[in-house]
Amino acid sequence: MSNNLTKLTYQTLQQGKNYFGLAHKTLSAQLKDIVYPTLRQTKPIPREVITKLQDRFNQLLEIDWLEAEKEVYPASLLFDNPWEDFFRYYPLVWLDLPQIWERVQQKKYQDFSSGIETEGYPSYYVQNFHHQSDGYLSDLSANLYDLQVEILFGGTADPMRRRILSPLKDRLKVFDSVSPRQIRILDVACGTGRTLKLIRAILPQASLFGVDLSPAYLRKANELLSQISGELPQLLQANAEELPYVDNYFHAVTSVFLFHELPATVRQTVIEQCFRVTKPGGVFIICDSIQMSDSPEMAVLMDNFSDTFHEPYYKHYSTDNLVERLEKVGFENIEVQVHFMSKYFIAHKPF
Ligand SMILES: C[S@@+](CC[C@H](N)C(=O)[O-])C[C@H]1O[C@@H](n2cnc3c(N)ncnc32)[C@H](O)[C@@H]1O
Repeated sequence: MSNNLTKLTYQTLQQGKNYFGLAHKTLSAQLKDIVYPTLRQTKPIPREVITKLQDRFNQLLEIDWLEAEKEVYPASLLFDNPWEDFFRYYPLVWLDLPQIWERVQQKKYQDFSSGIETEGYPSYYVQNFHHQSDGYLSDLSANLYDLQVEILFGGTADPMRRRILSPLKDRLKVFDSVSPRQIRILDVACGTGRTLKLIRAILPQASLFGVDLSPAYLRKANELLSQISGELPQLLQANAEELPYVDNYFHAVTSVFLFHELPATVRQTVIEQCFRVTKPGGVFIICDSIQMSDSPEMAVLMDNFSDTFHEPYYKHYSTDNLVERLEKVGFENIEVQVHFMSKYFIAHKPF
């Protein structure tokens, strides 16, 4: 296929996912209004915000395409869609909605099915984040998570995650004298493993590691990662506040969509831990939500997000100064980027 045709196919597919996400959100909101007319409504989104959002969406697709074209990562990643999961689990997303609305109506934010073990987890974690059934603690939740994120972001979750790949590849050049097999990368809060899968595509020989608190999400990650070639990443159930690795162990540490789900003090502890396990000269890359300081024009979307999804720490996150937090533990030369609805912090540990 010619380059132009491949690009057009990619853009069309992404636009399709975006329309699908919009249709899903509109239909489910209408249904909710019929069944639960008293549930809180979102603030209307002004036309100029929608236009800016569309611009940012197009810019994200453009950079995603350009970096594939420059061979930062294989172009096949642009077409890596978990269709099997989609057909298998999409009906369950709809079937789960009545339980979600009922929990929202009753303001139940720590509601878990019987048989779900909640002992031993930090209290800030035992929550129905996004009003998800069983929070992060069941296989059902792990199976629905990626679909729900795709619907929320109109199919851009992976394009946003891929923005960590170029800085990661670039910053690892300082370790050029290290054999590729000796390079160690940790993904903190790896969830269902999508980021590790992307990293594997650019570093086929590196040793990859992932930690997460959720056994169910780790099981799902294991299922995904065992389907790809290369050594299986080492997945470990652990709290990011106490990373079970020796000091200065990793050439790079990444973390995607974690920090907005942590209370402020825990955010600082996790940053300290990431600093501790990163090698001198190594890099720590965060990808998370945009914040008020970089995207004030998107305030209505950030407000809607924290009002309608159960995200107890998002409001504080949205105005938190992560650069200051990173500098406080010793990271330096912190580069900040924004792509679509995500913000990136590329922080360096001095030699
Ligand atoms: C929004 S999800 C992001 C998952 C994944 N990184 C992604 O890109 O989709 C947040 C993840 O953080 C994990 N998590 C939350 N607090 C944690 C902690 N203190 N230690 C380890 N994992 C944690 C959750 O289990 C969940 O998998």
